[in-house]
Amino acid sequence: MPRFNHIRPPLVVGIGGTTRDGSSTERALRIALNGAESAGARTHLFGGAFLHSLPHYAPESASLTEAQRELIEAVREADAVIIATPGYHGGVSGLVKNALDTLEALRADERPYLDGRAVGCIVTAYGWQATGSVLGSLRSIVHALRGWPTPLGAGINTLETRFETEDTCSDPKAAGQLATVGQQAATFALAFGAGRSTAPASLAALAEQESAAPRPSRAANVLSLAS
Ligand SMILES: Cc1cc2nc3c(=O)[nH]c(=O)nc-3n(C[C@H](O)[C@H](O)[C@H](O)COP(=O)(O)O)c2cc1C
Repeated sequence: MPRFNHIRPPLVVGIGGTTRDGSSTERALRIALNGAESAGARTHLFGGAFLHSLPHYAPESASLTEAQRELIEAVREADAVIIATPGYHGGVSGLVKNALDTLEALRADERPYLDGRAVGCIVTAYGWQATGSVLGSLRSIVHALRGWPTPLGAGINTLETRFETEDTCSDPKAAGQLATVGQQAATFALAFGAGRSTAPASLAALAEQESAAPRPSRAANVLSLAS
């Protein structure tokens, strides 16, 4: 597993969950964030209770609540993001979508919205149909926000897979997929330049930074995921 000893560890922000105590969506997200940590990332989780504290996003409102500011600042700082939603009536839940709409505050940033960030996508639902269709919807939302969905997204059928404790799940294959989503988010954050003091202005500048840094190449880090 690639690690990030040579530079500042990337920050991976998790957004997701439901208002339910013991939300399987939030627990799935926690397993993915643990995967990101195992790849050397720092993580910050905004779970269901936090998302519930956000007001409905209102574009005409000039003021932001403390919770809205906290989410916006964390995503602004993030090198990668992982989003976890339940499938509600065939779509992304309102709670999670509201958090994503709140990121409209990032539109005028140098990196607007989720620009330049790897984004892991996770869906839980009572059946395979919604896990697949909602995962597609969530990825479309990430594209609209200029994020880069990780190669692996995780669809978890909660009729079959149980999350008995905060960071365990009954199906080792599902746990492995969730951890891989986290690892890919962290690894691709490095590929996007996390931890560098300045983003490279060009491929030539990137190559110069790479040759100056005493560390494995980004390509080696990325390729090691495939093995
Ligand atoms: C309002 C509501 C709508 C739902 N709609 C669907 C649905 O369309 N398809 C589906 O497979 N499951 C649906 N479910 C089931 C949830 O997606 C599933 O239970 C999910 O794992 C809940 O996550 P949680 O444990 O984090 O609360 C729905 C649940 C609720 C409460």
